[in-house]
Amino acid sequence: MVRSARSGEGYRGPLLQTVDSSPVSADGSLVLGIETSCDETGVALVRGTELLVDAIASSVDEHARFGGIIPEIASRAHLEAMVPTLRRALAQADVDLAEVDAIAVTAGPGLVGSLTVGAAAAKALSVGLDIPLYGVNHVIGHAAVDELVHGEFPARVMALVVSGGHSSLLLVDDIVTGITELGQTLDDAAGEAFDKVGRLLGLPYPGGPHIDRLARGGNPEAIRFPRGLSRREDLERHRYDFSFSGLKTAVARWVEARQDAGEEIPLADVAASFAASVADVLTAKTIAACQRHEVDTLVIGGGFSANSQLRELAAERCAEAGITLRIPPIRFCTDNGAMIAALGAAALRRGVAPSDLGLPVDSSMPLTLVTR
Ligand code: KG4
Ligand code: ZN
Repeated sequence: MVRSARSGEGYRGPLLQTVDSSPVSADGSLVLGIETSCDETGVALVRGTELLVDAIASSVDEHARFGGIIPEIASRAHLEAMVPTLRRALAQADVDLAEVDAIAVTAGPGLVGSLTVGAAAAKALSVGLDIPLYGVNHVIGHAAVDELVHGEFPARVMALVVSGGHSSLLLVDDIVTGITELGQTLDDAAGEAFDKVGRLLGLPYPGGPHIDRLARGGNPEAIRFPRGLSRREDLERHRYDFSFSGLKTAVARWVEARQDAGEEIPLADVAASFAASVADVLTAKTIAACQRHEVDTLVIGGGFSANSQLRELAAERCAEAGITLRIPPIRFCTDNGAMIAALGAAALRRGVAPSDLGLPVDSSMPLTLVTR
């Protein structure tokens, strides 16, 4: 068992006095990861960089009829799914709860009610099992999960994390202790823009995967939609920042104009041209950042990295620029427990102090804060 090093400011119960008879190396430690920041309840077990199990329960179908996530429904769904998902993960990995050495849980960013359910479960397990607790950053987790797939990161990598809530460009000197945020979205995240355009095209929620599918059958050059924050004067102030709300408005105007004229909307071409604009801006800025910072490995993570237009263009441009591209398989791109266990395991390997049992959840946790 790993020694629990909580400061114990708020809690002074007897369970905090850790019995540490047989310390194991951090690399061999078994870390349980719990993710509940949005609509997925994820529970995973990781040993070092080896994933033992990744169990997931999703409430996405319960939100679909409202056209967006309803926080109250998400929180209740986490509460109902938490124990069954935990039991399923342990059973699939054939692991007893008593074998777990540390708990990692998403501390933020995310929906506060959802985060609270995961944090409460993690704290209960930490107290009950008398093992350390790590509150970790969900967005960094989206990059960290790639270590389970492609091995530990080299000394310096660039990470583009794109999801329904974030579009961030991170210079990663160390996934736990060395994150520099180079840029972020000033308005909508990439996935959010896809979901909003999906709604205006009459597609089911979430629109992202539907636009992706439609776009594969369309012409990406049919309509020249704007490239956000890419003009010279924008680049001076926002070289690595993104903006997708102007693009979304441009798509809405284009569609409205055709509707007013009684014309049919070429849905596949609109989807393909819109997706091409998002992929173009994301990859152009990211590759420019890699070149400027002399980084030769790019990791792309987050729910939106499932997007095939982004994947294709990133692969093409990275090959041209001599950059190694690492994108985890799609099941690790959307929210999951493995990403949280991976980041917790990385923190444990580095000997980072665990979180206090009073760990707060933080709906807008900054990206520079990897653990808290
Ligand atoms: O990371 P994630 O599961 O949840 C957040 O933390 O936001 O990302 C979900 C987002 C949604 O906006 C969804 O529409 C988008 O990722 N997404 C996609 C695709 N798959 C998921 N967007 C475009 N193309 C896809 N294939
Ligand atoms: Zn996410």
